[in-house]
Amino acid sequence: MSKNIAIGVDIGGSGIKAAPVNLKNGKFTDERYRIPTPQPATPEAVGKTVAKCISRFEPSRKTPIGVAFPGVIQHGVVKTAANVDDSWIGVNLRELIRDYAGHDVHVLNDADAAGFGEYRYGAAHGQDGSIFLATLGTGVGTAMIVDGTLVPNLELGHLEIDGHDAEDYAAESARARHDLDWDGWIPHLQRYFSEVERLFWPDMIIVGGGVSKSSHMFLPRLTLRAPIIPAELLNGAGIVGAAAAAHAECAKEKARAKEQAKQAEKQAKKAAKRGAKGSTKD
Ligand code: BGC
Repeated sequence: MSKNIAIGVDIGGSGIKAAPVNLKNGKFTDERYRIPTPQPATPEAVGKTVAKCISRFEPSRKTPIGVAFPGVIQHGVVKTAANVDDSWIGVNLRELIRDYAGHDVHVLNDADAAGFGEYRYGAAHGQDGSIFLATLGTGVGTAMIVDGTLVPNLELGHLEIDGHDAEDYAAESARARHDLDWDGWIPHLQRYFSEVERLFWPDMIIVGGGVSKSSHMFLPRLTLRAPIIPAELLNGAGIVGAAAAAHAECAKEKARAKEQAKQAEKQAKKAAKRGAKGSTKD
């Protein structure tokens, strides 16, 4: 697999989707592969399905692979499971996928992946300042990118507003559950984004998730200080962002290893010099 390609995998409630991504432009280099999420979505069942998605694209040992998951991920471990099986809490997702796929992977929150994807290749491409992204789907996923750096695991979909978890009334699923038309849903979004803006003052707000396809129906009707615009990568954002984040992580690891080798060489030279001086004295 070419050196400019990374694989992204997005674990969702209804489907697990994967594609190889061209890191130069964020485009898929092959057709997206989707397998319905196994039910119950236990770690073992999902791990096997993710491995199947990865092997479909025959990655080389060096291909960066990123996996996005709908919960908080800290140091590879799943910490929350608002919309997935509770058995996920405490699972080391990185190790689980490595065991099933036989390949090292980088794992991150799904909204973080989408935000990073939009920053690298989409609606916020190269934008400085603080960018807030919200994905409106089954849940509300959120991400913040500040001057190009992702602040991980921002769980602002669970802000408590007027005594409710924001996700329960601002998510796309809440619109369907409460049988709301646009007129009925817009005040919920207005309340949510006004609160985010009051607390975080982002320079730009991006709205993603499946509903962003219909953004013209609601975004122009929201009144906010910051510009609020639709995501550009739509449903591909999680895959693209996971691939890009995995690539960035691999690059960081390489740089760290190079620096360590440099330091080790320096120490070895110093030790050799000391040794040489010692032997002259003898
Ligand atoms: C989870 C987030 C996730 C979002 C979108 C929320 O319920 O807490 O971690 O990003 O859903 O999947």
